[in-house]
Amino acid sequence: MFTTAVRPVTPVIPEDLFGAIAALKGDLNAIILAHYYQEGDIQDCADYIGDSLGLARQAAETKAEVIVFAGVHFMAETAKILNPDKQVLLPDLDAGCSLADSCPPDQFAAFKAQYPDHLVISYINCSAAIKTMSDIICTSSNAVKIVEQIPADQPLIFAPDRNLGRYVMEQTGREMVLWQGSCIVHETFSEKKIVQLQVEHPEALLIAHPECEPQVLRHADYIGSTTALLNYAQQTEAKTLIVATESGILHQMQKTCPDKLLIPAPPLQNCACNECPHMRLNTLEKLYLAMKHRQPEITLPLATCEAALRPIERMLEMSR
Ligand code: 13P
Ligand code: SF4
Repeated sequence: MFTTAVRPVTPVIPEDLFGAIAALKGDLNAIILAHYYQEGDIQDCADYIGDSLGLARQAAETKAEVIVFAGVHFMAETAKILNPDKQVLLPDLDAGCSLADSCPPDQFAAFKAQYPDHLVISYINCSAAIKTMSDIICTSSNAVKIVEQIPADQPLIFAPDRNLGRYVMEQTGREMVLWQGSCIVHETFSEKKIVQLQVEHPEALLIAHPECEPQVLRHADYIGSTTALLNYAQQTEAKTLIVATESGILHQMQKTCPDKLLIPAPPLQNCACNECPHMRLNTLEKLYLAMKHRQPEITLPLATCEAALRPIERMLEMSR
């Protein structure tokens, strides 16, 4: 008797992926939102490319029926919280975030319980469960503005990124209790190698994301979110920039600043550690397959969506 071996089904990927994605977008009435840390091809087929705040705003305003989120899990989750009735697709459900993972909900609940009179401000890079325990969400582009609006006598917890938290404390002069989380990408940059680069390129400006460690930030000529760094690169007269954030930003930066020399800040090891391994799990093929099969999909209990929506809405109101 013959038995038939079951072969794994290899997905059929069309040759013209950009065309196929554009066609599916029309069929689904979908919008593709992409973070600057996505690979260049994904950015090139997105309807909107932005930082976490811009993406949350787009998700809040879109009329599309399906949101295809080319980013990481917490970003797609935020889009779902803002649109519980819409389908939100993430090309790879494993695209997580080391910073979000550094704040487990049970440990954070115990931490928060030690400070009952504190208001909780959480960076958007956290899970939906952490958002439900937060009073206000912020991103790297509005954290300072939000903290400045809170009465000076109100004690604050800031979670989960200790580097952004420390930067906000310096900018506002406010003391905050910090959760000690960090991002594996932004803590990878080497102060020593950056200083060497500055010696080799004395005309260069160092621009850095506030998730970087203080020993890198103290050398920076400009600190800002990905969108702020992009805008600064376009506006500055400087022709050479050392860029201390995830290297995906260089795609748009080079496109919009073709005459500038952009040098990615070097990591401590000789590795591609300045590429976010979570962001890079998404590929153009996976984006196509997610749209074709309408999965993987983000699902969340309605009660979680409702509880997590309040601090996100507060953020949107406070950063108008
Ligand atoms: P922004 O999108 O706020 O610049 O943050 C960068 C980041 O690390 C996203 O994961
Ligand atoms: Fe998370 Fe860092 Fe990757 Fe952003 S770059 S998604 S903070 S691990």
